[in-house]
Amino acid sequence: MPIEWAGLGPELLLRLDRTKSQPLRVQLELGLREAIRTGRLAPGERLPSSRELARQLGVSRGLVQECYGQLHAEGYLSTRGGSATRVAQVEAGAVTPAPSQPDVPVATLTADFQTGLPDLASFPRGDWLWAQRESLPSAPTAVFDYGDPRGSVVLREVLAGYLRRVRAAASDPQRMVICNGFAEGLVLTLRVLRRGGIRRVAFEDPGYGDGETSASAARCGVDAIPVPVDASGIDVSALKASGARAVLVTPAHQWPTGVVMAPQRRHALVAWAQDCDGVVIEDDYDAEFRYDRDPVGALHGLASDRVVHLGTVSKSLAPAVRLGWILCPPRLADAIVEEKKLTDRGSPVLDQLTLATLVRSGRYDRHLRRMRTIYGRRRQALVDALGAHTPDIRLTGLAAGFHAIAHLPAHLDEATVIAAARGRSVGLHGMSTYRASRSTTPPQLVLGFGNLTERAITRGIATTADVLTGRRNGSG
Ligand SMILES: Cc1ncc(COP(=O)(O)O)c(C=O)c1O
Repeated sequence: MPIEWAGLGPELLLRLDRTKSQPLRVQLELGLREAIRTGRLAPGERLPSSRELARQLGVSRGLVQECYGQLHAEGYLSTRGGSATRVAQVEAGAVTPAPSQPDVPVATLTADFQTGLPDLASFPRGDWLWAQRESLPSAPTAVFDYGDPRGSVVLREVLAGYLRRVRAAASDPQRMVICNGFAEGLVLTLRVLRRGGIRRVAFEDPGYGDGETSASAARCGVDAIPVPVDASGIDVSALKASGARAVLVTPAHQWPTGVVMAPQRRHALVAWAQDCDGVVIEDDYDAEFRYDRDPVGALHGLASDRVVHLGTVSKSLAPAVRLGWILCPPRLADAIVEEKKLTDRGSPVLDQLTLATLVRSGRYDRHLRRMRTIYGRRRQALVDALGAHTPDIRLTGLAAGFHAIAHLPAHLDEATVIAAARGRSVGLHGMSTYRASRSTTPPQLVLGFGNLTERAITRGIATTADVLTGRRNGSG
């Protein structure tokens, strides 16, 4: 059965700068032309409908239609018999390729503001089953053999196109390795760096704290050096001073502070890597879930020769899928592939084929759009509940992903607040665990809302309002 495309619009990362005097229509035309010329949008690739792109960019549909018409006239786009607009098939060589580039058991909690979990109940079971049924019967017998340690070429090609389109990453399927989530991608990368003589790897502070990520760094024989993060992302001057030659960052949505890495910092970080022959490991954390602002492209698109880009479906689908990807810089690619081969001979291929079908069919994009709306509402429920019950508590972190930072009154003690909330069957989690120093000041909470209903969020905050504010009697 052919893959069903109708009604499932793809997404496309394009930026319009409203501060520029250049008209939006011109910007859009230039952006699309550039994406096609550089190969970020491949021949035959489907574009969003004019209605959908207009909605994504906040412009009129007429403006998008005019742009599509112009690019159509120039031969960049094609439309056949009223079907979707696609990038025109061009003669080989005409397009320049992209540069290579607790004490109370959880079950008894009425609301647990646990971090890092997407809405598990929203896993698209029907779509996953559909994609399994679609991909398995037509898979060649050879897929049941040991395959390429990099993973299924089908998935690598689909993901490379997806990442170019949505994350503006300079992805090349030849230098992509499918792995078991971010966790494995990081370990493979750190082992390769360690063998290449890099012993000191900088980590964002606050960041992964004393969790599994730091523990696995230690097992790879790497010293994790904390480097502070401010409102613009990692402090590159402090990074320079640290003596590290590799750094792990979360530019799209910093974990856990929730800031996005500012453009100047991105450039400074790349310059740092170039100056010291260093490597930036990009954890593309939460990139799928920017629901209030223009998305920011991946760092990988800026310097694919310096950035190891790690992606995962743990947040977009579910952690249980255990699939992720590594976009390897050319000089590390062979070593990472070898490491993957020696570690587990490759990740499960049948699930990779299922994921490829899900992405290619547009159902993955559709799921993300649906989840963005759900997480947007949940974040709003959190903002509203704090506004209603604890108006003095400041909430920071982008309107993105599914966590935010609550700044508690300075006189409160994080651990005491958490313990008191547990006594009311509400799970709260403190920032101190994510700080290298474990400092409990300033007292802050990292509130995860991905796996909580709006009702549970509202109740959880209402129930703990007096605890959060330090008021004796919570009038709520
Ligand atoms: C900062 C960060 N990045 C990425 C991930 C995803 O890890 P994985 O793909 O191994 O599930 C997590 C998981 O909690 C995380 O906290």
